[in-house]
Amino acid sequence: MGDRDFNAAHVPVLQEEMLAMFEGLEIKTFFEGTLGAGGHAEGVLKAHPEIERYIACDRDPVALEIAGERLAPWKDKVEFVRGDFRDLDRHLKEKGLQAVDGFFLTWGCHRCN
Ligand SMILES: C[S@@+](CC[C@H](N)C(=O)[O-])C[C@H]1O[C@@H](n2cnc3c(N)ncnc32)[C@H](O)[C@@H]1O
Repeated sequence: MGDRDFNAAHVPVLQEEMLAMFEGLEIKTFFEGTLGAGGHAEGVLKAHPEIERYIACDRDPVALEIAGERLAPWKDKVEFVRGDFRDLDRHLKEKGLQAVDGFFLTWGCHRCN
């Protein structure tokens, strides 16, 4: 992304559909591999207050900075990882995790205005 301005109008795509996938599940640990501006993460954390650890990965440091501000209310639960989601196994290992209860990726086309 590389541009903090995208955050102002960035709306996560298919947020309701994404949350529906996890509805009714008891989630303690979650891995998101494409954190972006943190909109999906915010939705998941609001819908699942039982989450204890939200591993939030993105390869873009600007995205991580923006999401960090957005997710400040959950700072005790969110653990940021700068890296590629393809290294999922290593990221989890470094966190002392072998598996997670929830997993989410999104990427492709999106508009920011
Ligand atoms: C469409 S945005 C994600 C939207 C985000 N879920 C939200 O709620 O704002 C895509 C993000 O995926 C990140 N990304 C793309 N490929 C990646 C990869 N292989 N590993 C980690 N992050 C990646 C980009 O840096 C970008 O921040």
